[in-house]
Amino acid sequence: MSILVTGGAGYIGSHVCVELLAAGEDIVLLDNFSNAERTVADRISELSGRTFPVCDVDLLDREGLGRVFAGHDIESVIHLAGRKAVGESVSLPVLYYHNNITGTLHLCQAMAEAGCHSMVFSSSATVYGANPIVPFREDFALSATSPYGMTKVVIERILTDLAAAEPDWRFCLLRYFNPIGAHPSGLLGERPDGVPNNLLPYIAQVAAGQRTHLTVFGDDYPTRDGTGVRDYLHVVDLALGHLKALAYVRAHAGAEAVNLGTGTGYSVLEIVAAFERASGLKIPYIVAPRRAGDIAVMSADPAKAERLLGWKALRGLDDMCADAWRFASRAAEELN
Ligand code: WQD
Repeated sequence: MSILVTGGAGYIGSHVCVELLAAGEDIVLLDNFSNAERTVADRISELSGRTFPVCDVDLLDREGLGRVFAGHDIESVIHLAGRKAVGESVSLPVLYYHNNITGTLHLCQAMAEAGCHSMVFSSSATVYGANPIVPFREDFALSATSPYGMTKVVIERILTDLAAAEPDWRFCLLRYFNPIGAHPSGLLGERPDGVPNNLLPYIAQVAAGQRTHLTVFGDDYPTRDGTGVRDYLHVVDLALGHLKALAYVRAHAGAEAVNLGTGTGYSVLEIVAAFERASGLKIPYIVAPRRAGDIAVMSADPAKAERLLGWKALRGLDDMCADAWRFASRAAEELN
Protein backbone atom coordinates (compact mmCIF):
# COMPACT_ATOMS: atom_id res chain seq x y z
CA MET A 1 0.00 0.00 0.00
CA SER A 2 1.31 3.46 -0.91
CA ILE A 3 0.70 7.06 0.07
CA LEU A 4 -0.19 9.25 -2.92
CA VAL A 5 1.38 12.71 -2.54
CA THR A 6 -0.25 15.18 -4.92
CA GLY A 7 2.02 18.16 -5.57
CA GLY A 8 4.85 15.94 -4.36
CA ALA A 9 7.51 17.83 -6.33
CA GLY A 10 6.63 21.19 -4.78
CA TYR A 11 8.30 23.04 -1.92
CA ILE A 12 6.18 21.47 0.84
CA GLY A 13 5.46 18.23 -1.06
CA SER A 14 9.10 17.34 -1.62
CA HIS A 15 9.86 17.70 2.08
CA VAL A 16 6.80 15.58 2.93
CA CYS A 17 7.98 12.85 0.51
CA VAL A 18 11.45 12.76 2.10
CA GLU A 19 10.01 12.32 5.58
CA LEU A 20 7.49 9.68 4.45
CA LEU A 21 10.25 7.63 2.81
CA ALA A 22 12.48 8.04 5.87
CA ALA A 23 9.61 6.69 7.99
CA GLY A 24 9.44 3.57 5.78
CA GLU A 25 6.31 4.49 3.84
CA ASP A 26 5.94 3.66 0.15
CA ILE A 27 4.89 6.69 -1.89
CA VAL A 28 3.59 7.63 -5.33
CA LEU A 29 4.57 11.18 -6.31
CA LEU A 30 1.99 12.96 -8.47
CA ASP A 31 2.67 16.38 -9.94
CA ASN A 32 1.85 18.26 -13.15
CA PHE A 33 5.24 20.00 -12.84
CA SER A 34 3.68 23.39 -13.64
CA ASN A 35 5.48 24.91 -10.65
CA ALA A 36 8.15 22.32 -9.86
CA GLU A 37 11.18 20.83 -11.57
CA ARG A 38 11.33 17.13 -12.46
CA THR A 39 14.80 16.94 -10.93
CA VAL A 40 13.19 17.34 -7.51
CA ALA A 41 12.08 13.69 -7.67
CA ASP A 42 15.72 12.68 -8.21
CA ARG A 43 16.78 14.71 -5.19
CA ILE A 44 14.10 13.06 -3.05
CA SER A 45 15.48 9.68 -4.12
CA GLU A 46 19.04 10.83 -3.43
CA LEU A 47 18.16 12.01 0.06
CA SER A 48 16.06 8.95 0.97
CA GLY A 49 18.04 6.26 -0.85
CA ARG A 50 14.74 4.96 -2.18
CA THR A 51 12.89 4.94 -5.51
CA PHE A 52 9.19 5.50 -6.13
CA PRO A 53 6.73 5.97 -9.03
CA VAL A 54 6.41 9.51 -10.41
CA CYS A 55 3.13 10.38 -12.18
CA ASP A 56 3.16 13.48 -14.38
CA VAL A 57 -0.60 14.00 -14.12
CA ASP A 58 -2.83 17.05 -13.72
CA LEU A 59 -5.75 16.65 -11.28
CA LEU A 60 -7.98 18.17 -13.98
CA ASP A 61 -7.23 15.07 -16.09
CA ARG A 62 -9.93 12.86 -14.56
CA GLU A 63 -9.09 9.82 -16.69
CA GLY A 64 -5.37 10.17 -16.05
CA LEU A 65 -6.05 10.41 -12.33
CA GLY A 66 -8.20 7.27 -12.50
CA ARG A 67 -5.29 5.43 -14.13
CA VAL A 68 -3.01 6.43 -11.24
CA PHE A 69 -5.35 4.74 -8.76
CA ALA A 70 -5.85 1.74 -11.06
CA GLY A 71 -2.10 1.32 -11.40
CA HIS A 72 -1.08 1.72 -7.77
CA ASP A 73 -2.43 0.39 -4.48
CA ILE A 74 -3.15 3.74 -2.77
CA GLU A 75 -3.99 3.59 0.94
CA SER A 76 -4.12 7.31 1.78
CA VAL A 77 -3.59 10.63 0.03
CA ILE A 78 -1.63 13.69 1.10
CA HIS A 79 -3.14 16.38 -1.09
CA LEU A 80 -0.91 19.41 -1.68
CA ALA A 81 -1.41 20.06 -5.40
CA GLY A 82 -2.93 23.46 -6.13
CA ARG A 83 -2.19 26.98 -7.25
CA LYS A 84 -1.22 29.17 -4.30
CA ALA A 85 -0.28 32.70 -5.35
CA VAL A 86 -2.63 35.12 -3.60
CA GLY A 87 -2.06 38.00 -6.02
CA GLU A 88 -2.42 35.79 -9.11
CA SER A 89 -5.70 34.44 -7.74
CA VAL A 90 -7.15 37.97 -7.63
CA SER A 91 -6.29 38.41 -11.32
CA LEU A 92 -7.35 34.90 -12.39
CA PRO A 93 -10.16 33.81 -10.04
CA VAL A 94 -11.81 31.30 -12.40
CA LEU A 95 -8.47 29.59 -13.02
CA TYR A 96 -7.96 29.24 -9.27
CA TYR A 97 -11.50 28.01 -8.50
CA HIS A 98 -11.37 25.50 -11.36
CA ASN A 99 -7.86 24.25 -10.73
CA ASN A 100 -8.06 23.91 -6.95
CA ILE A 101 -11.69 22.93 -6.42
CA THR A 102 -12.40 20.81 -9.53
CA GLY A 103 -9.04 19.13 -9.05
CA THR A 104 -9.98 18.18 -5.50
CA LEU A 105 -13.41 16.94 -6.58
CA HIS A 106 -11.75 14.73 -9.20
CA LEU A 107 -9.42 13.42 -6.51
CA CYS A 108 -12.30 12.56 -4.16
CA GLN A 109 -14.12 10.75 -7.00
CA ALA A 110 -11.04 8.74 -7.95
CA MET A 111 -10.38 7.90 -4.29
CA ALA A 112 -13.97 6.70 -3.79
CA GLU A 113 -13.78 4.48 -6.89
CA ALA A 114 -10.59 2.95 -5.54
CA GLY A 115 -11.97 2.44 -2.05
CA CYS A 116 -9.47 4.95 -0.60
CA HIS A 117 -11.07 7.19 2.03
CA SER A 118 -8.31 8.93 3.99
CA MET A 119 -6.72 12.26 3.12
CA VAL A 120 -4.44 14.84 4.69
CA PHE A 121 -5.31 18.15 3.04
CA SER A 122 -3.01 21.14 2.63
CA SER A 123 -5.09 24.04 3.88
CA SER A 124 -3.83 27.42 5.03
CA ALA A 125 -4.07 29.99 7.81
CA THR A 126 -5.48 32.22 5.12
CA VAL A 127 -8.88 30.64 5.89
CA TYR A 128 -9.01 32.82 9.03
CA GLY A 129 -9.26 35.91 6.83
CA ALA A 130 -8.43 39.28 8.33
CA ASN A 131 -9.28 38.24 11.89
CA PRO A 132 -7.97 40.80 14.41
CA ILE A 133 -8.04 38.28 17.27
CA VAL A 134 -4.77 36.33 17.64
CA PRO A 135 -3.65 33.61 18.08
CA PHE A 136 -5.98 31.90 15.62
CA ARG A 137 -7.85 28.84 16.93
CA GLU A 138 -9.44 26.16 14.79
CA ASP A 139 -12.99 26.99 15.96
CA PHE A 140 -12.75 30.56 14.66
CA ALA A 141 -15.14 31.58 11.87
CA LEU A 142 -13.66 31.19 8.41
CA SER A 143 -13.47 33.79 5.67
CA ALA A 144 -11.25 34.70 2.76
CA THR A 145 -9.54 37.85 1.53
CA SER A 146 -8.62 36.38 -1.88
CA PRO A 147 -9.93 33.79 -4.36
CA TYR A 148 -6.98 31.61 -3.33
CA GLY A 149 -8.09 31.75 0.30
CA MET A 150 -11.67 31.06 -0.71
CA THR A 151 -10.61 27.88 -2.55
CA LYS A 152 -9.21 26.63 0.75
CA VAL A 153 -12.40 27.58 2.64
CA VAL A 154 -14.57 25.85 0.02
CA ILE A 155 -12.43 22.69 -0.14
CA GLU A 156 -12.44 22.40 3.67
CA ARG A 157 -16.25 22.62 3.52
CA ILE A 158 -16.47 20.01 0.73
CA LEU A 159 -14.36 17.54 2.70
CA THR A 160 -16.22 18.24 5.95
CA ASP A 161 -19.58 17.67 4.23
CA LEU A 162 -18.30 14.47 2.59
CA ALA A 163 -17.19 13.10 5.96
CA ALA A 164 -20.60 13.95 7.42
CA ALA A 165 -22.42 12.22 4.54
CA GLU A 166 -20.28 9.08 4.38
CA PRO A 167 -18.69 7.84 7.65
CA ASP A 168 -15.93 5.95 5.82
CA TRP A 169 -14.11 9.22 5.03
CA ARG A 170 -11.26 10.44 7.23
CA PHE A 171 -9.75 13.93 6.75
CA CYS A 172 -7.18 16.05 8.51
CA LEU A 173 -7.22 19.64 7.23
CA LEU A 174 -3.82 21.16 8.00
CA ARG A 175 -3.85 24.96 8.25
CA TYR A 176 -0.28 26.02 7.50
CA PHE A 177 0.97 29.29 8.88
CA ASN A 178 4.16 30.55 7.22
CA PRO A 179 6.45 27.67 6.21
CA ILE A 180 10.05 28.75 5.52
CA GLY A 181 13.49 27.19 5.46
CA ALA A 182 14.77 24.17 3.58
CA HIS A 183 16.05 20.64 4.01
CA PRO A 184 19.36 20.84 5.96
CA SER A 185 21.15 19.08 3.08
CA GLY A 186 20.66 22.15 0.88
CA LEU A 187 19.22 19.90 -1.84
CA LEU A 188 15.54 20.84 -1.39
CA GLY A 189 14.02 24.26 -0.79
CA GLU A 190 11.77 27.02 -2.01
CA ARG A 191 12.56 28.13 -5.56
CA PRO A 192 9.64 30.32 -6.76
CA ASP A 193 9.32 31.17 -10.44
CA GLY A 194 9.85 34.84 -11.22
CA VAL A 195 9.73 37.51 -8.53
CA PRO A 196 9.04 35.88 -5.13
CA ASN A 197 5.76 36.95 -3.50
CA ASN A 198 6.80 35.70 -0.09
CA LEU A 199 9.24 37.31 2.31
CA LEU A 200 11.85 34.59 2.89
CA PRO A 201 12.62 33.62 -0.71
CA TYR A 202 12.85 37.30 -1.57
CA ILE A 203 15.32 37.97 1.25
CA ALA A 204 17.31 34.89 0.20
CA GLN A 205 17.58 36.22 -3.36
CA VAL A 206 18.80 39.59 -2.04
CA ALA A 207 21.45 37.76 0.00
CA ALA A 208 22.44 35.71 -3.06
CA GLY A 209 22.88 38.90 -5.10
CA GLN A 210 19.91 38.19 -7.39
CA ARG A 211 17.94 41.21 -6.07
CA THR A 212 19.35 44.57 -4.97
CA HIS A 213 17.17 45.10 -1.90
CA LEU A 214 14.06 44.04 -0.01
CA THR A 215 10.92 46.18 0.02
CA VAL A 216 9.30 46.16 3.44
CA PHE A 217 5.56 46.53 2.94
CA GLY A 218 4.59 48.93 5.72
CA ASP A 219 6.23 49.94 8.99
CA ASP A 220 3.12 51.54 10.48
CA TYR A 221 1.37 48.42 11.76
CA PRO A 222 0.43 48.22 15.48
CA THR A 223 3.33 45.83 16.17
CA ARG A 224 6.56 46.10 18.22
CA ASP A 225 8.52 47.58 15.32
CA GLY A 226 5.70 48.58 12.97
CA THR A 227 6.24 45.76 10.47
CA GLY A 228 4.00 42.75 9.84
CA VAL A 229 4.17 39.80 12.23
CA ARG A 230 3.76 36.20 11.08
CA ASP A 231 4.08 32.70 12.58
CA TYR A 232 7.00 31.19 10.66
CA LEU A 233 7.65 27.46 10.95
CA HIS A 234 10.41 25.26 9.54
CA VAL A 235 9.30 23.32 6.45
CA VAL A 236 10.76 20.12 7.96
CA ASP A 237 8.60 20.59 11.07
CA LEU A 238 5.66 21.15 8.73
CA ALA A 239 6.48 17.96 6.80
CA LEU A 240 6.66 15.94 10.02
CA GLY A 241 3.25 17.33 10.93
CA HIS A 242 1.89 15.56 7.84
CA LEU A 243 3.15 12.21 9.11
CA LYS A 244 1.38 12.81 12.41
CA ALA A 245 -1.79 13.75 10.51
CA LEU A 246 -1.48 10.59 8.39
CA ALA A 247 -1.33 8.49 11.55
CA TYR A 248 -4.41 10.33 12.79
CA VAL A 249 -6.54 9.73 9.68
CA ARG A 250 -5.52 6.10 9.67
CA ALA A 251 -7.26 5.76 13.03
CA HIS A 252 -10.06 8.33 13.10
CA ALA A 253 -13.11 9.03 10.92
CA GLY A 254 -14.50 12.51 10.32
CA ALA A 255 -12.84 15.78 9.34
CA GLU A 256 -10.55 17.69 11.73
CA ALA A 257 -8.93 21.08 11.07
CA VAL A 258 -5.55 21.55 12.75
CA ASN A 259 -3.21 24.56 12.85
CA LEU A 260 0.44 23.93 12.03
CA GLY A 261 2.35 26.87 13.48
CA THR A 262 4.75 27.57 16.33
CA GLY A 263 2.57 30.01 18.28
CA THR A 264 5.40 32.58 18.09
CA GLY A 265 5.24 35.58 15.75
CA TYR A 266 8.19 37.44 14.24
CA SER A 267 8.15 40.78 12.46
CA VAL A 268 9.60 41.45 9.03
CA LEU A 269 12.56 43.32 10.54
CA GLU A 270 13.18 40.48 13.02
CA ILE A 271 13.29 38.06 10.08
CA VAL A 272 15.73 40.34 8.24
CA ALA A 273 17.99 40.44 11.33
CA ALA A 274 17.81 36.64 11.73
CA PHE A 275 18.70 36.11 8.09
CA GLU A 276 21.64 38.53 8.38
CA ARG A 277 22.92 36.49 11.35
CA ALA A 278 22.52 33.24 9.39
CA SER A 279 24.15 34.47 6.19
CA GLY A 280 26.68 36.92 7.61
CA LEU A 281 25.43 39.33 4.94
CA LYS A 282 23.62 42.67 5.12
CA ILE A 283 20.10 42.71 3.66
CA PRO A 284 19.45 46.23 2.32
CA TYR A 285 15.80 47.30 2.43
CA ILE A 286 13.48 50.21 1.75
CA VAL A 287 10.10 50.82 3.37
CA ALA A 288 7.03 51.12 1.13
CA PRO A 289 3.30 51.40 1.89
CA ARG A 290 1.40 48.39 3.19
CA ARG A 291 0.59 45.62 0.66
CA ALA A 292 -3.12 45.29 -0.16
CA GLY A 293 -4.73 42.45 1.76
CA ASP A 294 -2.02 42.18 4.41
CA ILE A 295 -2.96 42.17 8.08
CA ALA A 296 -0.80 43.20 11.02
CA VAL A 297 -0.43 39.93 12.91
CA MET A 298 -1.05 36.22 12.15
CA SER A 299 -0.10 33.57 14.67
CA ALA A 300 -1.32 30.10 15.52
CA ASP A 301 -2.72 28.60 18.67
CA PRO A 302 -0.81 25.30 18.30
CA ALA A 303 -2.52 23.51 21.22
CA LYS A 304 -4.82 21.26 19.14
CA ALA A 305 -1.93 19.96 17.01
CA GLU A 306 -0.11 18.90 20.15
CA ARG A 307 -3.20 17.44 21.80
CA LEU A 308 -4.70 15.64 18.78
CA LEU A 309 -1.63 14.79 16.67
CA GLY A 310 1.15 14.81 19.23
CA TRP A 311 2.95 17.40 17.05
CA LYS A 312 4.78 20.58 17.87
CA ALA A 313 7.35 22.63 16.00
CA LEU A 314 10.88 21.94 17.24
CA ARG A 315 13.13 24.04 14.98
CA GLY A 316 13.83 27.70 15.76
CA LEU A 317 14.16 30.80 13.62
CA ASP A 318 17.94 30.58 13.34
CA ASP A 319 17.63 27.02 11.94
CA MET A 320 14.98 28.20 9.48
CA CYS A 321 17.20 31.02 8.19
CA ALA A 322 20.42 28.97 8.15
CA ASP A 323 18.75 26.17 6.17
CA ALA A 324 17.07 28.63 3.81
CA TRP A 325 20.39 30.35 3.17
CA ARG A 326 22.25 27.07 2.58
CA PHE A 327 19.72 26.13 -0.13
CA ALA A 328 19.55 29.58 -1.72
CA SER A 329 23.31 30.03 -1.88
CA ARG A 330 23.72 26.56 -3.39
CA ALA A 331 20.92 27.26 -5.93
CA ALA A 332 22.58 30.57 -6.89
CA GLU A 333 25.91 28.80 -7.42
CA GLU A 334 24.18 26.24 -9.68
CA LEU A 335 22.78 29.11 -11.77
CA ASN A 336 26.21 30.74 -12.22
C1 WQD B 1 4.98 37.87 5.22
C2 WQD B 1 5.21 39.28 5.74
C3 WQD B 1 4.39 40.99 4.29
C4 WQD B 1 7.22 40.15 1.04
C5 WQD B 1 1.30 34.19 2.27
C6 WQD B 1 -0.04 33.76 1.77
C7 WQD B 1 -0.57 32.64 2.63
C8 WQD B 1 0.45 31.55 2.73
C9 WQD B 1 1.81 32.05 3.18
C10 WQD B 1 -0.21 29.81 1.18
C11 WQD B 1 4.01 40.20 5.53
C12 WQD B 1 5.90 41.07 4.41
C13 WQD B 1 6.52 40.11 2.23
C14 WQD B 1 8.05 41.26 0.76
C15 WQD B 1 7.43 42.24 2.86
N1 WQD B 1 0.58 30.88 1.47
N2 WQD B 1 6.63 41.13 3.12
N3 WQD B 1 8.13 42.27 1.69
O1 WQD B 1 1.38 37.15 3.16
O2 WQD B 1 1.77 36.12 5.47
O3 WQD B 1 1.17 34.67 3.58
O4 WQD B 1 2.18 33.09 2.27
O5 WQD B 1 -1.01 29.29 1.90
O6 WQD B 1 -1.75 32.19 2.02
O7 WQD B 1 -0.92 34.86 1.91
O8 WQD B 1 3.42 35.71 3.63
O9 WQD B 1 5.79 35.96 3.03
O10 WQD B 1 4.04 37.09 1.58
O11 WQD B 1 4.51 37.98 3.86
O12 WQD B 1 7.51 43.18 3.67
O13 WQD B 1 8.74 41.37 -0.32
O14 WQD B 1 6.30 39.86 5.03
O15 WQD B 1 3.81 42.30 4.29
O16 WQD B 1 3.94 41.08 6.64
P1 WQD B 1 1.89 36.03 3.99
P2 WQD B 1 4.48 36.67 2.93
